[in-house]
Amino acid sequence: MSINVKQLAAEKAVEYVEDGMKVGLGTGSTAYWAIRKLGERVQQGLKITAVATSRASEEQARELGIPLVAFGDVDHLDLTIDGADELDGRLQLIKGGGGALLREKIVAMGSTRMIVVADESKAVETLGKFPLPVEIVPFAWEWTVAELAKLGCKPELRRSGDELYKTDNGNYIADCRFEAIASAPELAMSLQGIPGVVEHGLFIGIAALAIIGKNDGSIEIVE
Ligand code: A5P
Repeated sequence: MSINVKQLAAEKAVEYVEDGMKVGLGTGSTAYWAIRKLGERVQQGLKITAVATSRASEEQARELGIPLVAFGDVDHLDLTIDGADELDGRLQLIKGGGGALLREKIVAMGSTRMIVVADESKAVETLGKFPLPVEIVPFAWEWTVAELAKLGCKPELRRSGDELYKTDNGNYIADCRFEAIASAPELAMSLQGIPGVVEHGLFIGIAALAIIGKNDGSIEIVE
């Protein structure tokens, strides 16, 4: 039987959750395993409250009996556990493959600590092979996409079947293919300077710890 490395990393991260904590729930196929384990611990008596970063995670948590609150109802979160599409040795991340990057960033930045969970295929030396998701407003999206292209990428508007993909916030996602991002902080500044950009998937200085599940069954912790 092959090892589920996503599950391995996610379940390790759940060990950091303590009674009384307010926890941010990430989105995606790795965060899924963390929520599942958290549900198990809640059923065994762990007392936490949680904030979800997407409707999908909210639904999963509700089904498992994890007490949920709205982000606005908590003054802070203690810990957020979330996945990543890419991470480098400085704990810089690309997120948003699942389209939830805006809520994920708000929740992660509203947390005292963010733990990123991933399988080893996500660990890279230089970010950028994975197309960077950028959430943009529908108004004048053509102009915004042209501005994104000026930053040296190939932007492509995400689709869902025949329709344009819409985020939980009613916006579009431009997936920007850079191949290699020489300086994530510089790129983040340029992206923030484009008016139609709501948020981008570069998480810099946000994750405190990465738990990486390896194919040989071991776990690497980067901090
Ligand atoms: C969701 O918007 C993303 O940021 C996910 O956290 C990221 O895509 C990782 O997802 P997987 O764990 O499914 O690879």
